[in-house]
Amino acid sequence: MRHFISVNQLEADEMYQIIRKANELRDRPNQLNRQLFAGNLFFEPSTRTKMSFTVAERKLGVEILDFHIEASSLAKGESLYDTAKTFEAIGANFLVIRHPSDQWISELEQEGKLNIPVINAGSGKEEHPTQCMLDLLTMYQEFGSIKGLKVVIAGDIKHSRVARSNAKALTKLGAKVIFSAAPGFEDHTLEYPYLTMDEAIEEADVLMLLRIQHERHLHKAETSDYLSLYGLTKERYKKLQDHAIIMHPAPINRGVEIDTSLVESEKSRIFKQMDNGVYVRMAIIMHVLSEWGIIHENNLIKCKSLTAI
Ligand code: CP
Repeated sequence: MRHFISVNQLEADEMYQIIRKANELRDRPNQLNRQLFAGNLFFEPSTRTKMSFTVAERKLGVEILDFHIEASSLAKGESLYDTAKTFEAIGANFLVIRHPSDQWISELEQEGKLNIPVINAGSGKEEHPTQCMLDLLTMYQEFGSIKGLKVVIAGDIKHSRVARSNAKALTKLGAKVIFSAAPGFEDHTLEYPYLTMDEAIEEADVLMLLRIQHERHLHKAETSDYLSLYGLTKERYKKLQDHAIIMHPAPINRGVEIDTSLVESEKSRIFKQMDNGVYVRMAIIMHVLSEWGIIHENNLIKCKSLTAI
C-alpha cells in the first residue's frame, strides 16, 4: 500500500495482520535497528492521536522532527505539498498528517510525487483509519473475532470520521453495524439501519459512543436534554447485555453523550482504547515502512520490557 489513508485500502487479512502485530508489540516490544525520522504534521488539535504516535515512534526508536504550524513556513504561504517535500528532502522517512480537509491526500498526489509514506491521523469527516484499527484491536481483545458482532455506533454520525471508518471496516470483517442518532445527526447516504438508543442498547455487543462534533456544525447544537434522550444514562447502562462493552474514541463530552459516572465503569473500554492506540500505531508504522522496503522484519531488535522500580 502506498500510503495509509483509508480503511478501504485494507483487506480483511491485512487488518488482522496489523491487529495481531499490535498485540505482539504490547507483549514483546521491538525497536527498529536503524535511524529513522518522522514528521508529525498536525493541522487540527489532537491529544490522543498525536501523543500516541509520539509514544509509538519513540518506542520504535524513531526520531520525531518537531513541527508547529504557527512557527513553520506554512505561515508564509508554503503549501502542504512543499512542506511534505521539504520533510522528505531533509530526511524524514515517513509523515503522519492530521488535516481538516478530506481532499489533502489527492492534493498531495496531484501536485507531484512524494517518495515517502504518509499515514492519515484523521482527515475531514471521512477517515480516521488508525483510530479504527485501535477500535478493532479493542473488540478483538474482548471477543476474539469481529465477525458476527453487533456494533452500535451512536451519536453525531453525520459529522464523524470515526463512524465512517469503523462502519466500513467492521462491515468488511463481518460485523453488523447499527447507527443511532438524534434527529439531524443521521447520515442517510450511508446504508446502515438506525435504532433509537433504547432499542439499540439491548442489541449491542459493542456500544460505540460519539461526541457531538461542534467544530463541524454551523450552529451550536442544544445539549441540555441530549443525555436523557439520546445518550448513555445510568438507567440505560443497566439494560446493556452482560457481555456488552462501551467504547468512545474521545474526547468525551461528559454528561452529554455519556453520564460522567459511566466513563470508567466496568463495561467501559475507553482508556483501554487509548492504550491500544500506541501499539496499533507502532504496528501501522512498521507495516507501512515494510511495504515501502524501508525496514524488514530482520531490521527489528527485540527489547526487554523495563520493570519499574
Ligand atoms: N480520538 C481522537 O482522534 O482523539 P484526538 O483528537 O485527541 O487525537
